[in-house]
Amino acid sequence: MKIFVTGGAGFIGSNFIFYMLKQHPDYKIVCLDSLTYAGNLMTLIPAFDNPNFSFVKIDITNRAGIYNLFEKENPDVVVNFAAESHVDRSIVNPEIFLQTNILGTQVLMDACRKFGTKRFHQVSTDEVYGDLPLDRPDLFFTESTPLHTSSPYSASKASADLLVLAYIRTYKLSATISRCSNNYGPYQFPEKLIPLMISNAQKNIPLPVYGDGLNVRDWLYVEDHCAAIDLILEKGKIGEVYNIGGHNEKNNLDVVKTIIKYVGKGEITFVKDRAGHDRRYAINPNKIHTELGWLPATSFDVGIKKTIEWYLNNNEWLSNISSGKYLEYYDKYYAKK
Ligand code: NAD
Ligand code: TYD
Repeated sequence: MKIFVTGGAGFIGSNFIFYMLKQHPDYKIVCLDSLTYAGNLMTLIPAFDNPNFSFVKIDITNRAGIYNLFEKENPDVVVNFAAESHVDRSIVNPEIFLQTNILGTQVLMDACRKFGTKRFHQVSTDEVYGDLPLDRPDLFFTESTPLHTSSPYSASKASADLLVLAYIRTYKLSATISRCSNNYGPYQFPEKLIPLMISNAQKNIPLPVYGDGLNVRDWLYVEDHCAAIDLILEKGKIGEVYNIGGHNEKNNLDVVKTIIKYVGKGEITFVKDRAGHDRRYAINPNKIHTELGWLPATSFDVGIKKTIEWYLNNNEWLSNISSGKYLEYYDKYYAKK
């Protein structure tokens, strides 16, 4: 079994590579990543010695390059994590989000069709459903909740989802989609809430909470997301969408206060709200639970403690990002391999 993991130098993709190499020591994993600011090849250093792992620096929108690679490597499965993933950046510059998230997905699916790849999996997000009101805790996103996006990021992910569904129906592409809630854990780029707050608290920089801090996110430990995708690849039904989430709803203020408690310091500052800020996300994970038997293994209390400890013990990983050293790693060390 050979799996192409796109975006594998990012947060969830790298965790997925480590998870798969451990769970399936006989699988071959090829990571395809263009190494944008969010791609950190240093994260993957522990995988370099594994003969079943290889890395290719490539942009998923590069059709000719992607076709060459499919022809050469002939993957059995493609799991597409590659994306521009930060809502705030999408508000400043939507264009790259449309290119990578929509057109890049199309190129990968075209390659799957052209070279007869047996399976395509699209890693999507609960943000495609828009948001839920705070005063209706009885409401959750199911797979049939209408798509109703708020940001250029979520609009680009929803567009990609629609394109995947169109390829399934029109071309009989053998594909699945998963829509997960907010992930947290090791190797997340420190522009997202949890690693940013840990990093700022350590450096005695104020912790910027948007608006009133009462926006709710449904947090899932990244390894549980990886396990769910592995299960969908193994047992998921072609053409289906699976929501992934573990009923861990927290408002931002509570998350930040928990971080301050464990780091032992940190000062909150309330800042201007994000434009179009989604109020609440909450996943109903019944389908993946009842049909595939998936349940999250890590509670928020355990996961957040583990995550904070990881960042505190891996200060070098964070400081390589702050200094920009991680961006030089490919040219300096890996390109010579
Ligand atoms: P990330 O920003 O940490 O990583 C994205 C990776 O994709 C980076 O390594 C980057 O270099 C690579 N990439 C970007 N553009 C590329 C291109 N054109 N060609 C090749 N590689 C490219 O993102 P993440 O948080 O790991 O998210 C991964 C996927 O999971 C995304 O599709 C995202 O929408 C989805 N998702 C994320 C979350 C979350 O909480 N982080 C939740 C649900 C779904
Ligand atoms: P984020 O990690 O960007 O994920 P998403 O917007 O995709 O859910 O943000 C999580 C929540 O935290 C969101 O409600 C915005 C908020 N937030 C802040 O309050 N301050 C910050 O500095 C950041 C990055 C996010």
